[in-house]
Amino acid sequence: MSRAVLAVDQGTSGTKALVICPERGVIGTGTAPVTPRYGPGDSVEVDPAHLLSSVLDAGRQALAEAGEPVAAVGLANQGETVLAWDPDTGTPLTDAVVWQDRRSADLCAGLDDRAAELTRITGLPLDPYFAAPKMAWIRRERTSEGVVTTSDSWLVHRLTGAFVTDAATAGRTQLLDLDDVDWSPRALEIFGLGDERLPAIVDAAGPVGTTTAFGAPVPLTGLLVDQQAALLAQNVTEAGGAKCTYGTGAFLLAQTGTSPRRTTSGLVSCVAWRLGGRTSYCLDGQVYTVASAVRWLTDLGVISGAADLDRVGGSVPDSGGVCFVPALAGLAAPWWRGDVRGSLTGLGLGSGPGHLVRALCEGIAAQVVELASAASADLGAPLTGLRADGGLTRSALLMQTQADLLQIPVEVSALPDVTALGAGALARLGLDPTLPVAEALPDAKPSAVYEPRIGPDEAAERMARFRGGVTALLERSPATT
Ligand code: G3P
Repeated sequence: MSRAVLAVDQGTSGTKALVICPERGVIGTGTAPVTPRYGPGDSVEVDPAHLLSSVLDAGRQALAEAGEPVAAVGLANQGETVLAWDPDTGTPLTDAVVWQDRRSADLCAGLDDRAAELTRITGLPLDPYFAAPKMAWIRRERTSEGVVTTSDSWLVHRLTGAFVTDAATAGRTQLLDLDDVDWSPRALEIFGLGDERLPAIVDAAGPVGTTTAFGAPVPLTGLLVDQQAALLAQNVTEAGGAKCTYGTGAFLLAQTGTSPRRTTSGLVSCVAWRLGGRTSYCLDGQVYTVASAVRWLTDLGVISGAADLDRVGGSVPDSGGVCFVPALAGLAAPWWRGDVRGSLTGLGLGSGPGHLVRALCEGIAAQVVELASAASADLGAPLTGLRADGGLTRSALLMQTQADLLQIPVEVSALPDVTALGAGALARLGLDPTLPVAEALPDAKPSAVYEPRIGPDEAAERMARFRGGVTALLERSPATT
């Protein structure tokens, strides 16, 4: 009897699947691209059929490579991506509105007088990033038919017939009562979603149904939103620990333990996971454009791709006074100004590609510092270290800049695909509830540790330059609500 599991990470720009064996580690991998459509008015949509086919393709590739059956499946999801669908047939009624889509901004503006109440109930600031504004937007602009849910509920329904979401993904909607870990009738009422049929909220580990999508029937036993799955796989299970994933965006999550801790620093207070009926919480902060800012520099011809960051940035000793606030899709926590756009200042005739690359790395790293500082303020203690994962951790320049500006060590995960590994750990825990969590987790030993190489004064000076850039940006675009 196989003890391997199939772990699937359904992300914004692709799906990754791993077959993970407890004894032999990863024995099969599969990937399938997903291509969101970026349209006018900050619209970002994707055909739900592509989400499902990417899950099936990546999963089948991984299974074919492994050459053996699996005992269970785990699925990580994008979080705040939503669609309407027919609960009888599973047929999508709309395209999926991706987490980056900002078209519900006016709907949020119309709810401004209830923003504080919503934050009190759900732990989330009112922002189009989250699922509920998008769900309400779909109801207003697209269809009143069927159900409207996050993408995980639809995928799980297509795979197993169950109608569920895990507690942490439910927490990304702004409809979850953070204390009760249940749908909030008041939040639903505020968004005009009081009559919606909502998925049952389940633990991150446990059987939710059986799928035959990958061959022989196999139970789906792990479900979690992707950033939290990465937090788990990075073994950040104790209050005070933090991880940052450098992908499309950057997402810093800090564990706060088993009671919800409301942020006073502009972060998101949310569920990390619910396991065995016990909820862990975390603080979450986001940088919307990281790999997408690197892609922007690539499209401009400054670099040939992410792998070129270190070569080009390494050609100069510093950013030469160039300051880049890479808010190419607005600023998230702790500013919550999705409406502002980036700035590039301090340019001179001598500014070249190397300076731009260094300024970009500094701009990304400085935003992460702001998130880490906010988390420290909420936790009442400085973070002792940061665990980093995601594709851009391959840039030594970015990671060194991060350690320099943070003034604490940055430990880069040796494991690619930590999110899928988190989903795999949950699938195992769901299969065997007696398994201690620590035993299901991958070895979190880092592949590299970046220690700060500059002193606190220089770090403060560089942070001050970045903060000046943000202040100028905010002053140029005063908040309208
Ligand atoms: O909140 C959205 C984020 O979790 C998406 O992550 O890896 O799909 O870009 P990713």
